[in-house]
Amino acid sequence: MKLRTALITGASAGLGRAAAVALSSLGYRLILVARREEKLRELEQALDTPCHLLACDVTDYENLARKLSTRPEDFYDIDVLINNAGLALGLATADKVEWQDWQTMIETNCLALAFLTRQVLPAMVERNHGLIINLGSTAGNYAYKGGNVYGASKAFVDHFSMNLRADLIGTKVRVTNLVPGLIGETEFSKVRFQGDMDAVDAVYANCEALTPQDIANTIEWVVSQPQHVNINRLEIMPTCQAPAGLAVHKTSDTP
Ligand SMILES: NC(=O)c1ccc[n+]([C@@H]2O[C@H](COP(=O)([O-])OP(=O)(O)OC[C@H]3O[C@@H](n4cnc5c(N)ncnc54)[C@H](OP(=O)(O)O)[C@@H]3O)[C@@H](O)[C@H]2O)c1
Repeated sequence: MKLRTALITGASAGLGRAAAVALSSLGYRLILVARREEKLRELEQALDTPCHLLACDVTDYENLARKLSTRPEDFYDIDVLINNAGLALGLATADKVEWQDWQTMIETNCLALAFLTRQVLPAMVERNHGLIINLGSTAGNYAYKGGNVYGASKAFVDHFSMNLRADLIGTKVRVTNLVPGLIGETEFSKVRFQGDMDAVDAVYANCEALTPQDIANTIEWVVSQPQHVNINRLEIMPTCQAPAGLAVHKTSDTP
């Protein structure tokens, strides 16, 4: 039987890597995308499934399209697209943030995700078959101080996912937005705080965050649903986290 094929962006670390391990155990062949080719090679060695490595920056759209269009024939039909590559940069408030950081988040989390979807979707519609799993975030549902463009980019992912559902009605192509809260054991905070490990450790101190494996388990469950079932969005938090964050600024002055 022909193996099914999944394309995973951001497969060199964190959730993307865990998703690759999970899907290889379900018998998928994998197209693995990230900038760090050596990490993709290490992953390929660890997996017992055919892999095609696509080492590139997802925001280099021309290069991404060219590499994708020259993939080997065995990897031609993409059954599952996991738009996972993404990042948050800093926690500065909107008046102090670096413009370049906002630009990088929008280009990676929104534009690259939309671009790759646009590349892969026509063949899915033509085959009347396919599943797109986007990685949103609870930051897209609940505002927090310093979340500014990161949260907004994930709100884009949610609405884009639901608008894809609207466009794809009448086809058997499915779309899911996975919406995790705090996840440990990834490079997410190391990237966000530019390698400041004290800041990274403070995020995960004295609490039990989700793990990449928890999200990989969810991805395994989503891809295993029968074709008539579409999981629109799935919000997952560790038990130690809750959406409880409305802020009230108090002053000593009486109104
Ligand atoms: N960790 C959390 O708490 C959390 C919570 C909710 C949602 N999420 C979302 O989950 C997704 C994965 O996060 P993670 O925690 O697994 O982070 P991570 O460990 O930092 O992994 C991010 C992955 O994205 C890739 N990537 C980043 N920019 C890229 C680019 N321009 N081109 C190609 N690949 C790029 C990285 O690979 P290279 O560096 O090798 O390119 C890496 O493989 C993200 O979309 C994130 O927003 C994370």
